[in-house]
Amino acid sequence: MSRNFVVVAIVTALIFILPMAAASAANRGPDQIDIFGGERGKIPFPHAKHQDNLKDCNICHSVFPQEADAIKTLKAQGTLKKKKVMNLQCIKCHKQEKKAGKPHGPVTCSTCHVK
Ligand code: HEC
Ligand code: HEC
Ligand code: HEC
Repeated sequence: MSRNFVVVAIVTALIFILPMAAASAANRGPDQIDIFGGERGKIPFPHAKHQDNLKDCNICHSVFPQEADAIKTLKAQGTLKKKKVMNLQCIKCHKQEKKAGKPHGPVTCSTCHVK
């Protein structure tokens, strides 16, 4: 392998990889999101705090995509059951953390749902 080839390969890799890394770092979405909660009222959600604490995006985003109003859209299409995210993600985790005596999120209705 010639030296020139190695240099060209490294430069090419950097040209493609650096913008991709920058784009994925920038695409964390908003720090704070009001999740749609229908008649029960919206749910103010500290997104950045969860991202920092949980590290793995897929803990939540395996069920709905990284898009604005993803939950509302999937529920309207009938592909995501109402209260599924709430019960199987939010409340499930908060209760586990509470039981373990760790800092935890809210587990009562009106602490999450605000009118
Ligand atoms: C604890 C759950 C949770 C975790 C972990 C999480 N997210 Fe989210 N994310 C949400 C919720 C809830 C929404 C809002 C969906 C909606 O509005 O229907 C959202 C929305 C988004 C959006 C779209 C926001 C918008 O309004 O444009 C992006 C982008 C996103 N997340 C990226 C990420 C990335 C990247 C990570 C990992 C670093 C991550 N999320 C981790 C729950 C989470
Ligand atoms: C940890 C926060 C949290 C708590 C506590 C909570 N909810 Fe929710 N709730 C949500 C989120 C987020 C959604 C939207 C996602 C979904 O439907 O799974 C939601 C959705 C709902 C919906 C469906 C709304 C719709 O029209 O789509 C109802 C009804 C509801 N919650 C009732 C309740 C009741 C009753 C309680 C108390 C027993 C409660 N929630 C406690 C976060 C919470
Ligand atoms: C895998 C675990 C996990 C999941 C899933 C999760 N949370 Fe949390 N949440 C936490 C922990 C841990 C805290 C406490 C963080 C702290 O106080 O440092 C928290 C805190 C919160 C708080 C209070 C934040 C504050 O600043 O006091 C809210 C509101 C909240 N979560 C809403 C939600 C909603 C809505 C969902 C579902 C979309 C959700 N959480 C999903 C672990 C989780």
